[in-house]
Amino acid sequence: MSKTIIVSNRLPVKISKTDNEYILSTSEGGLATGLGSVYKHGNNKWIGWPGIEITEADDRDKMTAQLDELSLVPVFLEQEEINQYYEGFSNEVLWPIFHYYISTYAVYKQSNWEYYNIVNNKFKDAILKIAQPGDVIWIHDYQLLLLPSLIRNELPDVSIGFFLHIPFPSQEMFRLIPWRYELLEGMLGSDLIGFHTYDDVRHFLGAATRILPVTSSANIITNGERSIVVESFPMGIDVKKYASLPLKKEVVEQIGSIKETFKNTKLILSIDRLDYSKGILQRLLAFEQLLQQHPEYCGKVTLHMIIVPSRDTVPQYAHLRDEIDKRVGNINGMYRNLDWTPIHYYYRSFPIETLSALYFAADVCLVTPMRDGMNLVSKEYVASRINDDGVLILSEMAGASKELIDALIVNPNNTNEVCNAIITALNMPPDEQKRRMQQMRQLVTKFNITHWVKIFMERLKEVKQMQRSMQTRHVSDGTEQSIINRYRKTKKRLIFLDYDGTLVGFKSNMAMAYPDKELLSLIDKLSSDRANDLVIISGRKHENIGEWFGDKDLYLIAEHGAWFKQKNTSWHKISGLSDSWKHDIYPVFETYVDRTPGSFIEEKTYSLVWHYRNAQKGLGELRANELMNNLKYIANDKGLQLLPGDKVLEVKNMEINKGKAALTLVDKKEYDFIIAFGDDYTDEDVFKALPDSAVTIKVGGNLSAAKFYLRNPTEVRKLLTNFTENVPVH
Ligand code: UDP
Ligand code: G6P
Repeated sequence: MSKTIIVSNRLPVKISKTDNEYILSTSEGGLATGLGSVYKHGNNKWIGWPGIEITEADDRDKMTAQLDELSLVPVFLEQEEINQYYEGFSNEVLWPIFHYYISTYAVYKQSNWEYYNIVNNKFKDAILKIAQPGDVIWIHDYQLLLLPSLIRNELPDVSIGFFLHIPFPSQEMFRLIPWRYELLEGMLGSDLIGFHTYDDVRHFLGAATRILPVTSSANIITNGERSIVVESFPMGIDVKKYASLPLKKEVVEQIGSIKETFKNTKLILSIDRLDYSKGILQRLLAFEQLLQQHPEYCGKVTLHMIIVPSRDTVPQYAHLRDEIDKRVGNINGMYRNLDWTPIHYYYRSFPIETLSALYFAADVCLVTPMRDGMNLVSKEYVASRINDDGVLILSEMAGASKELIDALIVNPNNTNEVCNAIITALNMPPDEQKRRMQQMRQLVTKFNITHWVKIFMERLKEVKQMQRSMQTRHVSDGTEQSIINRYRKTKKRLIFLDYDGTLVGFKSNMAMAYPDKELLSLIDKLSSDRANDLVIISGRKHENIGEWFGDKDLYLIAEHGAWFKQKNTSWHKISGLSDSWKHDIYPVFETYVDRTPGSFIEEKTYSLVWHYRNAQKGLGELRANELMNNLKYIANDKGLQLLPGDKVLEVKNMEINKGKAALTLVDKKEYDFIIAFGDDYTDEDVFKALPDSAVTIKVGGNLSAAKFYLRNPTEVRKLLTNFTENVPVH
């Protein structure tokens, strides 16, 4: 029976120690709740660090047994590992960079990186102890970026999902990390990589394709033989729990006492983990500005601020705590009076019932992180507002702002804007509060944590199926043998070979992609068999194809079928076509060449091609899309076809088509074996035009009408070479 293994740095338990025993209680965090339906079933497990240092073997055994009852498996960390992997690399390198905090004096310690590797390997070992090839492994967050590939190397067929709970930065930031290649390669061991927002997806695709030699098409990255899907899955919360808590007796009582305490003032709530990414100091500035510039609010509004202790052994966090203490002290010292204290500040965590009472009682929730992957506090506030009142002020830098668009959205760096948003919130009429809160509640209700887990798991299954169907279509040893057997038995064969991307790989200078000796001798061997009619069918200019293959015993089709050359004859072009449209299109192309360094125009008899292989990555694709849009209507009017290819955009007469060209040869003789190889959009016309009995082979893993696929030109050459071996020459 296959199982699911959840892996995260921290196990979803709270552990406290009395004199001689450990007390375990499961955590109420959103992730733990959402994944409860997964890891508590059957053989499923959750692997992670228990969060405290346990050194004695006996204690470790006891803890392991206690955790086992909760389906949890511990990875114990030594103090040095905690210092260097958790505090050092995870929280002093990855966390700040991923949250766009860059220090000019950033120290990248080699030893931190080494420990990050050691601990990721430790997690790998823990997983391998229980994982089987058919299992699903879902890895969470930035502490374990290397883990997907470490597991993939050992269990190539296992399903691996990865979810990053923090933002993925722009590649400009990401590439500052000295170990950027290794980190990306680590992540690409996954089958499905999830982020909270589409911006994170974009950033990741940008980083992967710019930093590593991988390609992407839409949201699929091709890394050698593997396709990895990258998508956004905005994480939700346990809405039912938050919506029902305010009705619980214990919570109702707490609500009553909060309302009594704050009966003369409006209540603004702020809840965060201690973290510089949460914008706590900036928020205090905005609140101070409110009291200073709008004294009418003094005594009328209270900020209830909870900071949950976190990572305070990391120097930046300890420093932040001191700063907050100081600022809160200053503001309270400056503005408080006998009946009113502006800020009620707590540096500790609270039970969920207290949080719920606060969420329900607060008039305003102020959530202003400088950068946050999602931010669940904002969603918990919304879910708790079962009367559809209250106002959420939310930073545009929080992932949640992409969904909660009915909040008052602010830029946390703009103190004036935050201060004004507080005033707007305090004065918002009830019907506007209701209109906004209803919309947000609907959204939070639908995209809840169960929904999140479900769609991630379903998508992972689909991705695996997609990969498997690709595998079955790959020309395996068995398929290859049966194709070769058919080849051997047949006596009149027609072989279509596309050139670029099929027989040779792409080069940055297209003239450099000339046929090498090995290829020329392979072609000679194949064409020397009189049973074979070999066709090079290319989009290249006929002069170019003629120069390389003109003296050979081949059929040549160039410029997608505009030009033909039979064996031992000269070139002829199809008649009745016009190229007068070029006068209109050429100047448009020229403007794109002028605006896009590295791009150029290639002119063929009946087509124009804009090449952007050497343009800045991303810019070329952007301009190609722009050019497509630009030409869409004019192309239609003039009977032209727009052909996006591999780093090219070609405009050609609609009538020219590799499929039609191929058919003119198919009917020439009674062929008993037809095979076609091609890698590009234009080769699809050949695959579709050929009779059902033909063997069609796509080169590269994209969607195709071909029956089979091979991975690259090397595999094509290998199959063709096998054709030439041990075959009786007719
Ligand atoms: N939280 C908690 N105890 C508290 C205060 C907050 O468990 O005393 C929870 C809160 O309910 C929320 C989580 O901590 O679920 C914070 O998640 P968020 O996404 O807002 O920030 P993160 O800590 O992940 O950066
Ligand atoms: C964020 C991270 C989590 C982390 C949590 C608490 O939400 O995305 O991976 O577990 O903060 O941080 P801590 O360092 O205490 O585990």
